[in-house]
Amino acid sequence: MIQYDNQHQVFKLDTPNTSYVFGLTDRSYPGQIYYGKRIGDTDLMYLLRENERPEPPSVLRREKAGYFDFYPMEYPCAGIGDGRESCINIRTLDGQEGLELNYVSHQIFEGKKTLEGLPATWTDNADSCSTLEITLGDAVTGLRVILSYTAFTDVDAITRSVRVENAGERSLYLTKALSACLHVEQENLEVITLPGSWSRERILQRQKLGYGSLVTESIRGISSHQDHPFMALVSENCTQTTGDVYAMNFVYSGNFIAKASRDQFDQVRMVMGIHPDHFCWKLEPGDSFQAPEVVLVYSDEGLGKMTRSFHSLYRKHLIRGYWKDRQRPVLINNWEATYFNFDTEKLLAIAREAAAGGIEMLVVDDGWFGCRSNDDSSLGDWQVNEKKLPGGFTYLAQEVNKLGMKLGIWVEPEMVSEDSELYRAHPDWALQLAGREPGQCRAQYVLDLSRPEIADYVYEMIRTVLSSANIEYVKWDMNRLLTDVGNLTLPADRQGEIMHRYMLAVYGLQDRLTKDFPQLLLENCSSGGGRFDPGMLYYSPQIWCSDDTDAIERLAIQEGTQLLYPLSSIGAHVSICPNHGTGRTTPFETRGVVALSGTFGYELDITKLSDEEKSQIPGQVARYKKYSALIREGNYYRIASWRENHRYDCFMVVSEDQSEALLTYVQVLAQTNRKSLRLRLAGLDPDAFYEIEGKRYQGAVLMYAGLLIPRMNGDFQTCLLHIVKVG
Ligand code: GLA
Repeated sequence: MIQYDNQHQVFKLDTPNTSYVFGLTDRSYPGQIYYGKRIGDTDLMYLLRENERPEPPSVLRREKAGYFDFYPMEYPCAGIGDGRESCINIRTLDGQEGLELNYVSHQIFEGKKTLEGLPATWTDNADSCSTLEITLGDAVTGLRVILSYTAFTDVDAITRSVRVENAGERSLYLTKALSACLHVEQENLEVITLPGSWSRERILQRQKLGYGSLVTESIRGISSHQDHPFMALVSENCTQTTGDVYAMNFVYSGNFIAKASRDQFDQVRMVMGIHPDHFCWKLEPGDSFQAPEVVLVYSDEGLGKMTRSFHSLYRKHLIRGYWKDRQRPVLINNWEATYFNFDTEKLLAIAREAAAGGIEMLVVDDGWFGCRSNDDSSLGDWQVNEKKLPGGFTYLAQEVNKLGMKLGIWVEPEMVSEDSELYRAHPDWALQLAGREPGQCRAQYVLDLSRPEIADYVYEMIRTVLSSANIEYVKWDMNRLLTDVGNLTLPADRQGEIMHRYMLAVYGLQDRLTKDFPQLLLENCSSGGGRFDPGMLYYSPQIWCSDDTDAIERLAIQEGTQLLYPLSSIGAHVSICPNHGTGRTTPFETRGVVALSGTFGYELDITKLSDEEKSQIPGQVARYKKYSALIREGNYYRIASWRENHRYDCFMVVSEDQSEALLTYVQVLAQTNRKSLRLRLAGLDPDAFYEIEGKRYQGAVLMYAGLLIPRMNGDFQTCLLHIVKVG
């Protein structure tokens, strides 16, 4: 619900348990007043301290700059006095920077608009949210800025986005357009981010915020392995169940910045948006620019409640399409099984064994096209290599379908190999800076998709392959960062638009794909989880989480990913041991249990498995099917983190009606001379009774007194407990 209190000039946005409040001063500066637990009143202008020094410019003109340096502006402008991080800046044709935005008008309506060309949360039920659009204007340039806020009625989340319109008479350059800004006045705040690396994505990091700034950012053209478009301010006492959390997550997959700064007055400002580096957007009179959406979540009950708000928002209002609420097929992917070394016979041998184990889909990974036999060639030549696959996918799909399985394929449409027909024909199609040889990465270049004719050409190639056979799944990969970001056709003053135009083109391609093939199951991927973000989740209901398939390493990677994203979106597979990345050997059962909390599948040569391991597959598949709805729709509770305690990991999913739950426990390192572990569960109905392995417990007992986890011998052991309400 959103209301405007005309008397006090206060906007108040409510979700079921939170309120977000800002007000308008006499000079029409929108100032942030409050974000936190839901409150009732709107008489809050006193919190803007307009009667304290330095007085507002309407009272004391001589202190205008000092005023801006304290004022908690909803959308701070650069260049006019605020010395902290701004959200917007421009450069005029005279080369001057700086602007001042004042309130012009606003409107409040039920529901939510789409953001043109961009992923964003959505609703098809106008009752589930309301939106406030507030228009600000710069008197000198004529620039208009429309701040959009949506407050959901079914989830504790608020989204913000920004549209900038040049309503003036002269062109200008938008050099910075962040999407959200939040002010928190609270002592001893800490900052949580999710940094990482290839094969080590989204490892939770927590740091104290002193004076100065903490930043997480990507200028790699992808949201990246190294940083993640997420930042949370948390109170010192924050745990899974206690403390304040103010979180931001960016619905965007390219360059971003998130920055938290503690200022001289102990006010903390957190901003998030497209990174201003490599960004400059020309706005002719009448043109507009749409900045992507930021999701804001506040929790007064620690990280656990924040997580459940994100999961719920993304499940209900971000993920779309045919597979949104459907059980995903159990797949077997041939990457770690064969790498580039396969042919139809080998794939069918895998498929036959897989079908016998109940696996439902074969995915042909990298290496089926052009003359690709290693990663040096053929990206861009999206024609089936008939030497490897005689009869192409038409034949393979028929044979796979005969086994009762579906067929899926891997593609990497955004790339071109130097050694490819496409590159030989169009060397100018790669991103490049005039006069410089572009840098290779994994022996490949990035196609300049900001040029529509290139995006169209790529799309046609992919569409042709997908139309050639009964292909029901696509893994869309993207295996390098963007460098040499230049375009040979755009004018000089539009070169700063390429990074964002590229992202818009990728979104455009995926939009076309999902519209042309509405039942296709799309899984995004970027060298593992280099582009695992809400932007991609809007197009694909699942994303490959990480190239690290080691069950133990995966615990921390999946923990960081699960902090924000529903389990149903996290690609997780059982692979072979010793693990190809770590050399570690874990029990087949453990690998199965760890992969169960994602979109379950296999990534191994099933024909080479021991009989003992192979015999476990039908049971694992049946188990996935049994728990799939619970895992997909259940509420997530993290009980313990191996990353923190170095011994064991534990989390639960609990059905919405609290009638059942699944507890996953992994004993990473065994210890001698230990009693069984007593863990307190979460999320259950305290008054109900539950049965676990034949024994009855009261919900309150399990949550407040605890459960004893059976003792297990050996490292890397698991225990999966189904908790069922019995009265
Ligand atoms: C990336 C993906 C892998 C695999 C390879 C193929 O690294 O993350 O899963 O598809 O590419 O080249």
